[in-house]
This record gives sequence, structure tokens and C-alpha cells, in this order.
Amino acid sequence: MCGIVGYVASENISDKARDVIIEGLARLEYRGYDSAGIALVEDSSIYCQKKEGRLDNLRSIISSHSSSARAGIGHTRWATHGGPTDENAHPHVSFDKRVALVHNGIIENYKDLANELAQKNILSLSETDSEVAVHHLALELEKDNDLFEAMRRLACKLEGSFTLVAIDSHNDGEIVAARRNSPLVVGIGEGAYYLGSDVAAFVGETRKALELGQDTVVRITPTDVDVVKFDGSKTQGTPFEVDWDLDAAGKGNFDTFMDKEIHEEPAAVRKTLTSRVDSANRLVLDELRIDESLLREVNRIIVVACGTASYAGHVAKYALEQWCRIPVEVELAHEFRYRECIVNEKTLVVAISQSGETMDTLMAIRHARENSSKVLAIVNTYGSTIARESDAVLYTHAGPEVAVASTKAFVAQITACYILGLYLAQVRECVSSETITNTLEELNKMPGRIEDVLACEDAVRSLARSMADVQSVLFLGRHVGFPVALEGALKLKELAYIHAEGFAAGELKHGPIALVEEDMPIFVIVPPVSEDVIHSKVISNVQEVRARGARVIAVAEENDLAVGNFVDEEYIVRVPSGVHALMMPLVTVIPLQIFACELARVKGYDVDKPRNLAKSVTVE
Ligand code: G6P
Repeated sequence: MCGIVGYVASENISDKARDVIIEGLARLEYRGYDSAGIALVEDSSIYCQKKEGRLDNLRSIISSHSSSARAGIGHTRWATHGGPTDENAHPHVSFDKRVALVHNGIIENYKDLANELAQKNILSLSETDSEVAVHHLALELEKDNDLFEAMRRLACKLEGSFTLVAIDSHNDGEIVAARRNSPLVVGIGEGAYYLGSDVAAFVGETRKALELGQDTVVRITPTDVDVVKFDGSKTQGTPFEVDWDLDAAGKGNFDTFMDKEIHEEPAAVRKTLTSRVDSANRLVLDELRIDESLLREVNRIIVVACGTASYAGHVAKYALEQWCRIPVEVELAHEFRYRECIVNEKTLVVAISQSGETMDTLMAIRHARENSSKVLAIVNTYGSTIARESDAVLYTHAGPEVAVASTKAFVAQITACYILGLYLAQVRECVSSETITNTLEELNKMPGRIEDVLACEDAVRSLARSMADVQSVLFLGRHVGFPVALEGALKLKELAYIHAEGFAAGELKHGPIALVEEDMPIFVIVPPVSEDVIHSKVISNVQEVRARGARVIAVAEENDLAVGNFVDEEYIVRVPSGVHALMMPLVTVIPLQIFACELARVKGYDVDKPRNLAKSVTVE
């Protein structure tokens, strides 16, 4: 939520700072797009422009402003306190016009801080919690003219979560920042340093980066970086190299990031599976830092996650229980956090997050660790807070996901959960090595199978176009098809802004069937024919809704003849036959993603940046 960029260079090349910051904001726009702003140090004063709406609004103002600045900051906002107006947009400039500041997070004690300012007749121009920080920073700066130290003192006064980045008009050779419970990374260039909410902010300039710990203050200059903790003690960041480049973060030949990311799903699964077995064909998870003896002791698994990641957890539950014979619960992270959960040192908490920054998930992790559980994170973003704060990490290698609605991360998360499940089964010796090898072989076939589904993309898109006027869509599934139904409904809500709900097909007659009306579209995720019991139950469910006038769209195996008896072929989306039952979600979710993407497009909506949403939800 909110994207932040900072840049300081040794040379003041014409328009460079302006362009680097705007480009960085463009790459972070998925974090929030209610407003955008920039502040540059020019001729010992602050030049600041900010505009409500998309970054393009800011671009149109700033493009004619030629700048020789060598230091500046930028911000793209997802509104929390105060609506998306020009006044509430960041950066905020201090009462004395000396400093400018951007903020991501929520300052919980902002009212007290505003009262202190009011006593000095310093009043806010905006409705934000952020503006108080810039005025307090200016007051701190008056004391000793040291922005780094002023930021440290300010950070100690604040409650809540924040990344703050500030510039001082009296010194264009440095930028300072502070972070608590909110993301910030440093980029190390040649004669220039960068700050960003994530590496996408500067990956076009440098791939060398530095992770920053919790509760740290950082100062970047054109050639150096200093890091201290909030108590003033010296510390350091952890260097890392970004393993993807600008092309990976671009749209390539696709119209939207979502289209591109759907097409990257085979690669996301393939890369997540790569290098997981040794020469003896045993699974090895080098990145895990949890001792095998502890994993043998685990008697319960709780998956915590939000949104799409939680549905990946729901899929994983079926496999983990089947392979490891350990009870698995899946909890929304924000619900888990605020109840008296019963966990102990024998509980393994598995946290799933694409961004690795979702605040609800992070808080759930802390809660679990405080209660003696080990936490294993399945994360896509290297160096993210969740990766750092967990006992172990299993990375999905989906590459950067930019579209707000998650697609390739979902299939990569399921894949990583399955690797984990097989690994636990191996460590606990609850399935034979032959079963593990065979299951891995099945998993390795999945990228090719997803490619087969993508080859039928046009048919799904034309189906979506024919349904542009639908008002409400239901999704039904059983077993692993149930979370796929939930995910299909979520995609439609997120992107096409229509009512959509996913149900366990067996639950239909316990209530949801009352919703069914003449011609209502109902997607049914049909299990493989080989699962004859649940397959025939789902076929019965198809008949039940058809009898009430529903228009059924079935996602079914190629060789599923039974479904053809009840659904017109033009409404059957075929997926390859012979896919392992537990792996069906990796193929059945693809048409649902394409359908939602196309329906949103035909309705004229922004597929990559749906209204009101942000990709990285860094506030609770
Ligand atoms: C937001 C996004 C979803 C995402 C969820 C969890 O709600 O809009 O697409 O699934 O956060 O994000 P995470 O980064 O933790 O996977």
C-alpha cells in the first residue's frame, strides 16, 4: 500500500532525478493509485508537485518542468486517512518549507502529535496522519541541523507502522528514511543511491540492493549508506542481488500485466519446482532453516494468509493432510491474529504471501512466534519482511507480479505448498519414496499442461465477451475444486466488479441454491473422471442447477463425456485429461482467471489496477 521512491546522485544531470523518480513510481503504481507526487531539491528549496488520480495526471504537470535536481522523493498513494485529493497527496512539505516527506503506513498517535503542533500554531493543510510527521521532522531538524538524527528522534515518537522518506532543502546530498512494519529497500548504483518500497522502484537503474531490518533509520548519499537502529546504535543492511531485470517487470508484448502474468504461469510453476531434488532423488529444501527433528514433531499445521494466497492454502490443505497425515487448518491471517489461538511448539504455521509484506499476515506470524510456534513462509519476494521474520522460507519463483489481481503467484504458491507437503512426508516417512518420486513427476508435467490450457484462451475470452452484461455469477467446486471456485469468484469481484460467489458444491442445497434464477451463469469445476464418487456428485449438482434454469459453464477434463450430457459443448472449457486429482487446481484456475480478465476488459475496466484495491496491503 503506497509506493515510495528516493534518489540521490553525485551529478545533477538535467531531468535525471525527475525521470528516475517518475519511472520508479510507474513501477510501484500497483501499490496504490489514488494520487501521486514528487519533491525535488532545487536551488536550496523544495519543488513539490502532487496530483490526485493516476500517475499520468502528475506526469502531465511535471513533464514540462525541467529540473537540475540531484535528490528527490516520490509517492504513489492508496488512501487511508483522508480522501484521494491533491491536498492529501504526498509529499507533504513542512510549515517552514524546509523539508518534504512521504509516508507509507498508519501513524496511530497522529492526533496527539497534531495537538502538540497546534500549540505551536502549526496546522495541517491535509486530512492525513502523515502530514504531522513532516512538521515534527522540521522541528527536530531545527535542534541540530542533522536530518538523519532528526529522523531517528521522530521515529521514536511515532506509534503505528511507517516508512518515512525525507529530503532537506538545505542539503541535496542526502536522503533519510525510517521504517517500522512497513517496507523499504536501498538500491546501490554508480554514483547514485536509491530507496524504494520494493526493488521494482530502481531495478531499471541497478540490481544491487540492501535489505533493511525492522526499526531502522537510513541515510543515503550518492556514494554511501548509513543505517542505525531507533536507539541510535549502528547496524547494517543485508546486501542482495535482484535476480530479475526490467524486462521481467515490463508488459512485453501483452496489453496488460495480467495477460502477461497468466502466460507466465507455466514458467512460474517450472521455476518453483527447479533444483528441489538431489542425485538420490530425495527432496532437498536448502532454504529451510528448521531442523528436521522439529518437523518430525509437528502435530498440527495452520496456514495463515489473505486473499488469493489463502485460497492456495485451502488447496494445499487437501494435499498436506493426504501426504503427511497432519491436521491442517487454514485461517485468514487477520482472524488468526485477534483470537486466542491454541498453538504451541508442535504447531507449524505456514504463512503464504506473494508480496511478503501483507501486514495482516505479518502480524499473524508474530503472534504465532510469540506463542512458540515455528513459522515457515512461502513467499515470492526476496528479502521481504515476512521472509525475514519467519523461521524458514520457501521461495516461489514466479518472478515479479505486477497486476493487482494475483495469478501466477497462486499456481506457484500451490506448487511450493506441494513441495513442502512432499518434503514433510519424506522427513516423517509417511509415504514411500516411490510415491514422492511419482508425485514429483506429475508436478513436473504441470507446466506443459498449463500451456495446453492457455492454448484454449480464445474460446474462454469469447465466452466472457458474450457474457458482458451478467450481474451475478456463482462458482461451484468440490474437494480441491472448492477453493478454485472461491478464487474464480474473487477474480471476478476484483476485476469486473460484479457479484460473484464461490460455494462448495455439496453446500448448494443447504442455502445457495435459492439464489439460482433463470439464465444465471454458474461455473462448475468438475473433478476428474477418475475420482468417480465426487465426480458423479458434481454431475448431480450440475443437473440440480440446470433444473432451475441456470446456465452452466463447466470446467472439465477432455475425456469427461458425462458432463456433455448436461452442458452444451460451447459452455464446456476443456482441461487436459489425466492430471493428478490434487493438481487439478493448477489447470482449472487458468480459464477462470482469463474469463475475469476478459470480462473486465470488455466492460472497459483497468485490468491491472482495479478500483479501491492495492497489491501490497501494508496496513492492517
Ligand atoms: C491483496 C491483493 C490480493 C492478494 C492479497 C494477499 O488483497 O489484492 O491479490 O492475494 O493481498 O497478498 P500477498 O502479497 O500476501 O499474497
